[in-house]
Amino acid sequence: MPPTRIGVTAAAGAYSVLVGERTIDTLARELDDARLGPRRIIVSSPRVWDFHGPRFRKAGAERTPVLVEDGERHKNLTTVSRVHDALVKAKADRSTVVIAVGGGVIGDLVGFAAATYLRGIRVVHVPTTLLAQVDSAIGGKTGVNHALGKNLIGSFHAPSLVVADPTVLDTLPRREFRAGLYEVIKYGVITEPALLDRVRSTLPAIFARDPVAVAPLVAASCRIKAHVVSADERESGLRRILNFGHTVGHALEAATNYKRFRHGEAVGYGMLAALSIGVARGVTPASLYDEVLDLITHLGPLPPVSDISSKEALAAIGRDKKVVAGTLHFVAATKRGETTTLTDVSAKEIRTVLKQLGLRA
Ligand SMILES: NC(=O)c1ccc[n+]([C@@H]2O[C@H](COP(=O)([O-])OP(=O)(O)OC[C@H]3O[C@@H](n4cnc5c(N)ncnc54)[C@H](O)[C@@H]3O)[C@@H](O)[C@H]2O)c1
Ligand SMILES: [Zn+2]
Repeated sequence: MPPTRIGVTAAAGAYSVLVGERTIDTLARELDDARLGPRRIIVSSPRVWDFHGPRFRKAGAERTPVLVEDGERHKNLTTVSRVHDALVKAKADRSTVVIAVGGGVIGDLVGFAAATYLRGIRVVHVPTTLLAQVDSAIGGKTGVNHALGKNLIGSFHAPSLVVADPTVLDTLPRREFRAGLYEVIKYGVITEPALLDRVRSTLPAIFARDPVAVAPLVAASCRIKAHVVSADERESGLRRILNFGHTVGHALEAATNYKRFRHGEAVGYGMLAALSIGVARGVTPASLYDEVLDLITHLGPLPPVSDISSKEALAAIGRDKKVVAGTLHFVAATKRGETTTLTDVSAKEIRTVLKQLGLRA
């Protein structure tokens, strides 16, 4: 299948997202065509580079990549400084392009390093996890964690190009792969029901990482994310729909110190919570809740929640960035592919749904 090219508009300039099998092999040409050079410095993690480094030999980048650790606990200013150090040592200048090769952690932190080096140099994302391909590489949100909270330090810095090649997902641990699928389901619920049908009907091929099954999921997801962030780069309105399932999802992650869940798994629970609140309100059809529950159940087991205190999870929601000037913007589904924002969801309603999910009092 030929690659799919998706355009994104951003305040800093338009860029393309290229999705397709073996697109990494044509990276050099893409970079040349987009006039991204002459100097190109790759930043990746030892793990990702061990698996996929050889594929970048012909990317026209400098021979030695900068390698930094990529666990969530390394997503901090110290690691950003390491990237800065390497850029200074390499005498990177305003014309240098940084190529981030890795999952969402590498993308976010390298994007932030590029945003802040010389007040901003260009960055290209080559996402290597499903989550990064369908979500984090597009939209220009960059940043790192602070000791007191996740993603508290950051900036908007749109990439100059994104190249998503599903063949790199072969080496991804199954749990990481699955975590990305919950975000794909999210896109299905909020705007494109056909995605739900597609995941459902091709699940074995998807889990086998057959690019013929995976590439269309990535392309459809990228198209949706690209459309949403093009219309609302800074999240003042439309972009909020991407937070579907994230209010409760983030709360579960925070209540377990970001250690128990992969982000997508928490979103899996969060989507069920959002659907459940919608059903209780009469805005969401019960059939949609049943459909998503069934799909999520088919993906495999989610980590347990029975020891998590619903009170703590609720407190985490109060601290969430989605609370704007004291108002929680809660995204609920009105039918397959459509949402509405509720601004009057009460603590009691959320608490009830958390208990339904299995959290303790
Ligand atoms: N900027 C955004 O809009 C946005 C959106 C969603 C999430 N995020 C951020 O993304 C991060 C999560 O990203 P993630 O889920 O990709 O996790 P990650 O970057 O931590 O990667 C997960 C693991 O997979 C490994 N890995 C990556 N690619 C691999 C491959 N091809 N084969 C084998 N192993 C591979 C990594 O080494 C790591 O151990 C979070 O920090 C989150 O805040 C950002
Ligand atoms: Zn998410």
